[in-house]
Amino acid sequence: MSLEQEISIRRTFGIVSHPDAGKTTLTEKLLLFGGAIQVAGAVKSNKIKKAATSDFMEIERQRGISVATSVMAFEYRGRKVNILDTPGHKDFAEDTYRTLTAVDSVIVVIDVAKGVEEQTENLVRVCKMRRTPIIVFINKLDREGKDGFDLLDEIEEKLKLKVVPMSWPIGMGQRFQGVYNMYGEQLNLFSAHGKQVEEDTLTFKDLNNSELDQLIGDAAAAELREETHLISEVYPSFDHQRYLEGIESPVFFGSAINNFGVKELLDCFVEIAPPPLPRYAEEREVRPEEEAFTGFVFKIHANIDPRHRDRIAFVRICSGTFRRNTNYQHIRLNRKLKFSNPTSFMASRKEVVDEAFPGDIVGLYDSGNFKIGDTLTEGEILHFKGIPSFSPEQFRYVNNANPLKSKQLNKGLVQLMDEGVAQLFTMEMTQRKIIGTVGALQFDVIQYRLEHEYGASCTYEPVRLNKACWISCDDKEALNTFIRRRKKDLAKDKDGQLVYMAETAWGLKTVQEAHPEVQFHMKSEY
Ligand code: G4P
Repeated sequence: MSLEQEISIRRTFGIVSHPDAGKTTLTEKLLLFGGAIQVAGAVKSNKIKKAATSDFMEIERQRGISVATSVMAFEYRGRKVNILDTPGHKDFAEDTYRTLTAVDSVIVVIDVAKGVEEQTENLVRVCKMRRTPIIVFINKLDREGKDGFDLLDEIEEKLKLKVVPMSWPIGMGQRFQGVYNMYGEQLNLFSAHGKQVEEDTLTFKDLNNSELDQLIGDAAAAELREETHLISEVYPSFDHQRYLEGIESPVFFGSAINNFGVKELLDCFVEIAPPPLPRYAEEREVRPEEEAFTGFVFKIHANIDPRHRDRIAFVRICSGTFRRNTNYQHIRLNRKLKFSNPTSFMASRKEVVDEAFPGDIVGLYDSGNFKIGDTLTEGEILHFKGIPSFSPEQFRYVNNANPLKSKQLNKGLVQLMDEGVAQLFTMEMTQRKIIGTVGALQFDVIQYRLEHEYGASCTYEPVRLNKACWISCDDKEALNTFIRRRKKDLAKDKDGQLVYMAETAWGLKTVQEAHPEVQFHMKSEY
């Protein structure tokens, strides 16, 4: 196959949702269709349930699972589909945001009873910023939930998405009879047998056909006719281009656990979802069909196999063909590296790949060379843009609890920071170390991992901090004055950048007013 053909058959996407909406269940059903797994239950939930936040074994178990399910590839109708897994837990949202830089489209799962939830809003906001095409799957129609039209309004209002219903439910909960698939003009009748069988799918071009009344009853038929009529009046018909531009979102209804409505979703997805799209480097746009290989690291995962101490860096291939045992340029380190065991992941299976193409994700075994955002090329200097960095919201002093292991502690902290678990600051005057995170759960994870992976132990101490602000200033003299006056509140991040640690929002405002020449940035990349 030519490079162009390889690119045209690939669909790389992520499923996102608020925890419990059914992301794991839907992923599993998609994999079943794709033949990547044979039995239900093979994909374990990668979520960390609220009740388990202090259960470290659970965190470890979940991490193990999430390596295996980080990327799941399968073939369906001549397409190669790559699903990228995203953690649902809010404290790991950064990980999800970074993963979204490596996808070309997303499916958003919404629980019919709960509607649009907080995490859904945050995730969709990020997708919209990048103009990522979005398909919506409304799940759990076998349960009572919100009215279909109300839900569409809610999606438009809260997620600011223009919706195009592609299918429409016939009742819900106890009265759920199936969905009418407007895209394929098919009626799918529901039976709670855990799989959708061919006999239940009827082609129905004209809903005025009286057979409909016999199949679903007069009242339900009348309601379906009225509602589909209303849809055709109120909502636009599907426009592929508008979907690809991220302006319009097709909406499907179904029940993932009953494997209902999933096939329609997948059939439509492989038709309409975009193949690998160009990526943007600071220097230029990089198109997938370019001959030379380029890629970037969007995720780093410690290998949980205790016999191997190395990590796995996940690389999204942006252009050209990636080949095993070939020298590639690591741009940040200005060094050539080659990889003897690049790995692809298929559900619980891992395999070494000889070649990979744009849209594919390869896992590279790494002994500490990579950090998130690193670029690999055949020699051209490129820096891929758009990998988000985060403004930490929670801070604690980290103390070494075992002085004999300070080397291990420092190494562990640096490596965990490279994985993007949290950010590390060293205060200028006291040389004390502070960890900043977005969620509280990260502190537990860091402590546990330092102990189990590096043999180091740490304790935390509260510190009164509100924000970390990265500092820049063109005026050298003004910068020196600022540094002299504010030394007590200054720190360096792990790359040696200057950071102002603000105790309170009010204090920060005062300092900003006192030093107008100095710029305060809320993120490490600005
Ligand atoms: P998540 O990854 O988005 O967090 O959600 P997950 O798939 O784990 O699903 C959350 C819960 O919702 C699970 O139940 C799952 O069985 C259920 N669920 C998923 N799809 C449907 C559906 O179409 N209808 C109904 N009624 N339930 C659905 P759980 O009790 O939390 O877990 P489990 O014990 O079933 O594993």
